Amino acid sequence: MLIHKLMKKITIAIDGFSSTGKSTIAKQLAKSLGYIYVDTGAMYRAITLYAMRKNWVDNQKVNFEALVQALPQIQLVFKYNEVLEYSEIFLNGENVEKEIRTLEVSNQVSRIAEIKEVREMLVEIQKRMGAEKGIVMDGRDIGTIVFPDAELKIFMTASPEKRAYRRYKELIDRGEEVTYEDVLKNVQARDHIDSSREFSPLRKAEQAIEFDNSDMGLKEQFERLYNYALRIIKNT
Ligand code: DC
Repeated sequence: MLIHKLMKKITIAIDGFSSTGKSTIAKQLAKSLGYIYVDTGAMYRAITLYAMRKNWVDNQKVNFEALVQALPQIQLVFKYNEVLEYSEIFLNGENVEKEIRTLEVSNQVSRIAEIKEVREMLVEIQKRMGAEKGIVMDGRDIGTIVFPDAELKIFMTASPEKRAYRRYKELIDRGEEVTYEDVLKNVQARDHIDSSREFSPLRKAEQAIEFDNSDMGLKEQFERLYNYALRIIKNT
């Protein structure tokens, strides 16, 4: 770890479709490099939860006006949990880390993430978080919009079926009652919305390394990415 402290810090942007395992690998990478890790999906999820609690979003409609007006009242803070070894997100002072991961939130989040004002607010916070570099951030627009100058950009992909299966296992392990078919539908619907929306659609950034992990274990993924990062850090 000491060696990393002496090295120049870079910015690592990891983008990709939902459930490609971005956050698992991003967390490991940040820990090994002594960097901050930021899960930007958690920020969009927390805003979605806020809107759901106010009944501003359901399967039929989103009350854009009410949500946009309330944005200045929404405070999002990440706090590092020493036991879990990652940062948890707090929505107006409340730890909502678990609640934002339910399938209900997953089903609505893409529609909230389409809203221009929501994106503008979150991108600004994200840019501030990365101002000092030494950060691994994952999301959909990190290499394209948030940190277009990131030294290392990764674009993660995997087949929808693999991703749905991973997500399904996660939800079942957490005690949620879901079917694989429902999760697959959610993954496909989010892929569609995330990549076809008007503002900052998901797309591979220029110079991003495309990384298909459909048939790759965690260890191999980590080693490859860690080596990419070290190579760039040494040459920066
Ligand atoms: O990574 P995730 O599945 O937790 O992200 C939740 C949703 O938030 C996803 O459907 C797309 C959106 N999102 C986004 O639009 N931009 C980001 N930088 C991160 C997430």
